[in-house]
Amino acid sequence: MRNLIDILDFSTAEIDSLIEVAGDIIENPEKYRDVCHGKILGTLFFEPSTRTRLSFTSAMMSLGGQVLGFDNAASSSTAKGETVQDTIRMVSAYSDIIAMRHPKEGAPIAASRVATVPVINAGDGGHYHPTQTLTDLITIKRKSGRFDNLTVGICGDLKYGRTVHSLIAAMSRYENVKFVLIAPEELKLPDYVKEEFLGDGKCEYVETESLEDAIPSLDILYMTRIQAERFQDKDEYERLKDSYILELSKLKFAKPTLSILHPLPRVNEISVDVDDDPRAHYFEQAALGRYIRMALILMLLDTHGIDDKRTVGKEDATLECTNPHCLSLTERGIKKLFNNGKCVYCDQAGKKK
Ligand code: NCD
Repeated sequence: MRNLIDILDFSTAEIDSLIEVAGDIIENPEKYRDVCHGKILGTLFFEPSTRTRLSFTSAMMSLGGQVLGFDNAASSSTAKGETVQDTIRMVSAYSDIIAMRHPKEGAPIAASRVATVPVINAGDGGHYHPTQTLTDLITIKRKSGRFDNLTVGICGDLKYGRTVHSLIAAMSRYENVKFVLIAPEELKLPDYVKEEFLGDGKCEYVETESLEDAIPSLDILYMTRIQAERFQDKDEYERLKDSYILELSKLKFAKPTLSILHPLPRVNEISVDVDDDPRAHYFEQAALGRYIRMALILMLLDTHGIDDKRTVGKEDATLECTNPHCLSLTERGIKKLFNNGKCVYCDQAGKKK
């Protein structure tokens, strides 16, 4: 059985193949209309969502399958104190594949360890969001025609933006990709992401606070929302929320081939006057999310019997994860698993208790 927890669970060849299948679905939707007849997708959203949940629902319906689930932790047994792992055991019995979003980092790995059906991470806290990355990648492929030789600017909340972390993981695997990381000091990319994918010459990158200075060099500009819900200090959010606003005037020195992307929802960071610019692709990006998720559901339903690498890690009762947002700190009965000193659930360092 395969899961999609982290975008690196898929090779670049598998990503190419998903993009190809999504392209075929766009061209020949009738061919796929009934291929998931009798299959059920469980959508478990413990956190708000519009695009991700609805595009998963639309994807399964367009394949002839059915969908069950909840869009709010308060309407599930979580409100009665049920653990994530118990909820997943149940939903495994009621569905053939699960897409889940949870505010705690590492929740999808915890889920995948007890699930008897494939689990898709639809966003875990400020950690990862691999299906948004698939959406980003299909858009990049269709707009720029390639993944290599690109200068990718990522602007906004690089600290809490889970889509940012997964996009960097994915794009750092291609030749001659250069990242321009545009963020205020307080919202810079976390060290664990930097060390894993960029540091020690793994991939070229620069950090800057100036969007204006960065724009002329970029092939891709990936704008992101400041993640209000992850701030402990609401005053800090108020101070940082309008750090970057992309207006049409700022695009004067941008390349004519620039692609402007955003995982959406946007708040203030892209002014509506940019929407009509031919380089603004974010609404099309959201639309492509349905087709790439159709390809993903087909792939995961078809890969029973393949070993999943999520069996790594050893239980170590002497260690505790240092990430306050990790599910392993709050989930009753969860095994504390570490691999080379790092928490298996959220990738952050463990410390001696
Ligand atoms: C993103 C998310 O949930 O992380 N939204 C999405 O899935 N398209 C981005 C965001 O909420 O800012």
